[in-house]
Amino acid sequence: WAVPVVTWVRALGQRWTFLAALTVSFAWSPNQEEGSEISDDWPGYSLDLFTYPQHYYGDLEYVLIPHGIIVDRTERLAKDIMQDIGDNDIVVLCVLKGGYKFCADLVEHIKNLSRNSERFISMKVDFVRLKSYHNDQSMQDMQIMGGDDLSKLTGKNVLIVEDIVGTGRTMKVLLNHIEKYHPKMIKVASLLVKRTSWPDGYRPDYYGFEIPDLFVVGYALDYNEYFRDLNHICVINDRGKAKYRV
Ligand code: HPA
Ligand code: MG
Repeated sequence: WAVPVVTWVRALGQRWTFLAALTVSFAWSPNQEEGSEISDDWPGYSLDLFTYPQHYYGDLEYVLIPHGIIVDRTERLAKDIMQDIGDNDIVVLCVLKGGYKFCADLVEHIKNLSRNSERFISMKVDFVRLKSYHNDQSMQDMQIMGGDDLSKLTGKNVLIVEDIVGTGRTMKVLLNHIEKYHPKMIKVASLLVKRTSWPDGYRPDYYGFEIPDLFVVGYALDYNEYFRDLNHICVINDRGKAKYRV
């Protein structure tokens, strides 16, 4: 629509209006993530279209995001990350356990892009383990475990890699914790962002897909440690929840 507006403004011969219109059209221009939303009424893909482990037959509702699409989207995120911070050496901080698949694929894509460009990005990978889910419920207190000595992050460019951001409560706790070590920069990449009713939901710097408020499993996302060995991101059904409830 920008063209007719510009023509109209030119016809008025008012340069300042033209500039104002230009500013507005920039402010409204789609952001990088537009189109990454999976809508609430998206029916997903039938499980019969793909293969998945036999031990999960009957435990899933449908495929929300097939594995191939996850990998393709991750490649683009890697490109965006390279464009923004590819001139710096980075420490990738993988949030276990759910983030390990996304982190591995993301790092692989960044390495490939780096190898095929003029930029030689140096990457170190470290791990931190968080636990805040019991069954499909988020628990009040969160444990931050493991990881090497986080004081190694001081003065570094840190890229936190997460599987999913729900309310953002977990991420805020983690960010507060890491900021104590005074890194030079912190960016967050999350494969998924959940549309929750949480008022001031946290938005990561990079994310793959915005999904409905559903409990999802697969591609390292678990339900009580099950379903990490599922390639696709799927919606678990009531039978699956009951079977693996603890
Ligand atoms: N699935 C698995 N782990 C999670 C989810 C989810 O939907 N939300 C937060 N942690
Ligand atoms: Mg988890």
